[in-house]
Amino acid sequence: MSRRPIIAGNWKMNMTRAQATELITALKPLVKDAAAEVVICVPYTDIDTAVALCKGSNIKVGAENVAWAEKGAFTGEISADMLLELGTEYVIIGHSERRQYFGETDASVNARLKTAIAKGLKPIVCVGETLEERESGKTDDVLKTQVTGAFDGISAADAADVVIAYEPVWAIGTGKTATSEQAEETIAGIRAEVKALYGAEVAEGMRIQYGGSMNPKNVKELMAQPDIDGGLIGGASLKAVDFSQVVNYDA
Ligand code: PGA
Repeated sequence: MSRRPIIAGNWKMNMTRAQATELITALKPLVKDAAAEVVICVPYTDIDTAVALCKGSNIKVGAENVAWAEKGAFTGEISADMLLELGTEYVIIGHSERRQYFGETDASVNARLKTAIAKGLKPIVCVGETLEERESGKTDDVLKTQVTGAFDGISAADAADVVIAYEPVWAIGTGKTATSEQAEETIAGIRAEVKALYGAEVAEGMRIQYGGSMNPKNVKELMAQPDIDGGLIGGASLKAVDFSQVVNYDA
């Protein structure tokens, strides 16, 4: 089964509206012929600007989180309906920075994922081990727990449309990339876990990205791995030329 690669930018807490406008304007012509699906996940305050600028282009817009609740007393959260009203298509769930700094757990990731699916947002669910976990040989167990936790109670039909981003925490924003062999081996392990949960068809069809210091220099080698179906790009997504080079890795 062939899986269409998906390259997604994760702007994190960067880009004012003016900066977003400048970046997207520069980016559009650079990625217009991309074979991969192109997504930019942007701060909430940039979503309307990004959707308006990307209209009629091949760039899709995503958010960086979504509340599990539909509405109500959840200060600081944002609902799926609010995101959908602005034209948001994708949403990142369970990024390691959310887990590390804002107390996200596998249970909250699962709850957000269920809401995103129910509402028709396309989720990118992040999993990944810390350096300590990798060095003590716990990577497979940690990822198994995260994947099982994230997908708890989600049907095979719904799971099939979810994108997983494997992001080793020690490679995020550090300039340290997993070697392509490490990334491939770990992602193949995640796919095996998806197979155990949902069977071969869902596992073979599911897109699994690598994230963590992916950039124009290492993208080609990473994308050449059979189980790596794309990237979630932080730092290198903040410059139009760099991001376009990642997107056009096969050009
Ligand atoms: P990075 O971030 O590319 O800056 O390492 C990736 C991510 O956190 O999604």
